[in-house]
Amino acid sequence: MNIETSVRQRYSKGASERQESLCCPISYDNSLLDQLPDEIIEKDYGCGDPSRYVQEGDVVLDLGSGGGKICYMAAQLVGSRGQVIGIDANDDMLALARKYQADMSARLGCDRVRFMKGYIQDLALDLDALESYLKENPVRSQHDYAGLRAWENNQRINHPMIPDASVDLVISNCVLNLVSDHEKQQLVDEIFRVLKPGGRIAISDIISDKPVPAAMKQDAELWSGCISGAFQETEFLQSFAARGFQAVCYDKWESEPWRVMNGIEFRAVTLTALKGPIDTTGQQRHSLIYAGPFAQVMDESGRSYPRGERILVNAAEHACLTSAAYRGVFIDPDSHSATASASTPCCSSTSTTGNSKSDNGCCG
Ligand SMILES: C[S@@+](CC[C@H](N)C(=O)[O-])C[C@H]1O[C@@H](n2cnc3c(N)ncnc32)[C@H](O)[C@@H]1O
Repeated sequence: MNIETSVRQRYSKGASERQESLCCPISYDNSLLDQLPDEIIEKDYGCGDPSRYVQEGDVVLDLGSGGGKICYMAAQLVGSRGQVIGIDANDDMLALARKYQADMSARLGCDRVRFMKGYIQDLALDLDALESYLKENPVRSQHDYAGLRAWENNQRINHPMIPDASVDLVISNCVLNLVSDHEKQQLVDEIFRVLKPGGRIAISDIISDKPVPAAMKQDAELWSGCISGAFQETEFLQSFAARGFQAVCYDKWESEPWRVMNGIEFRAVTLTALKGPIDTTGQQRHSLIYAGPFAQVMDESGRSYPRGERILVNAAEHACLTSAAYRGVFIDPDSHSATASASTPCCSSTSTTGNSKSDNGCCG
């Protein structure tokens, strides 16, 4: 059986009855869970809680929303100006999430959540629209296939399901590992595309401490069980940093592995980052001091910040490096007079070894 079929069958089953083997212990904010139907809480196949990164006013995109638990939690946090979009490719999971939509709107006093059918590695293509097209235009020949491809391309360009730069926060709970390895780069590209400049990500997923051998990757059961498709721990961070994300870090790291197989540890983590860089060309009028404890840190562009030295940065860099994502790393010696602009875009990110940040914010 191929990976995609195995994933579809497994999560269709998971939508109708709880699958114990897919469950990972997580502590959620109970005040948010209190509002949710039991069935949604029970059919929870996440490995973290990205809802804690949601801020008021956010447009939130949940990749692989499953039964909708994180979406309905996020809906309680975004407030009246925010909205939440859940994407899933599985009809049964979408039906489960949508089953409670009217009830949840009544309970929360708002209708801020919608669920859409799509692949998270192809966020421009609405699969409901694709199905309608195929009903009208069945593919029976190479000519029909060429027509389908042209229609798909037109959809992606002119009617994207998730438009460019439209999302403040992309979250996901235990789904990226299910995307095939050859589409993982496209997935990271898509996340970058849909985020607004300075937008944030909070991705809870399973990672491995060592490379996963081919024999395990070919095992459809292990793949659909969130094991063999896991990113390797260094590769996960590097994939986002290489795409241009800033402040990429493991905000949560479970020391106890979720599974150990063939000597490989598979554990739950939460990766956070910001979309940047935007502008590093402005005049360097602000100074910042790296507070320590390391001798120096280096940003993604290779610039070093030796401990205790005043380093000149431009306004965009200043706003970014003093934002919540870097909280506590830099001292602003002119803070009595300097004001970070909330709308200033991100600068180059800085990697530090300390990783216990929480509540990562946008630049500014
Ligand atoms: C492990 S479950 C997690 C569900 C949910 N995030 C939660 O916390 O319970 C994985 C979900 O991702 C969906 N999924 C898997 N691969 C996908 C893909 N490439 N595109 C969209 N959804 C996908 C599955 O249908 C399933 O609902």
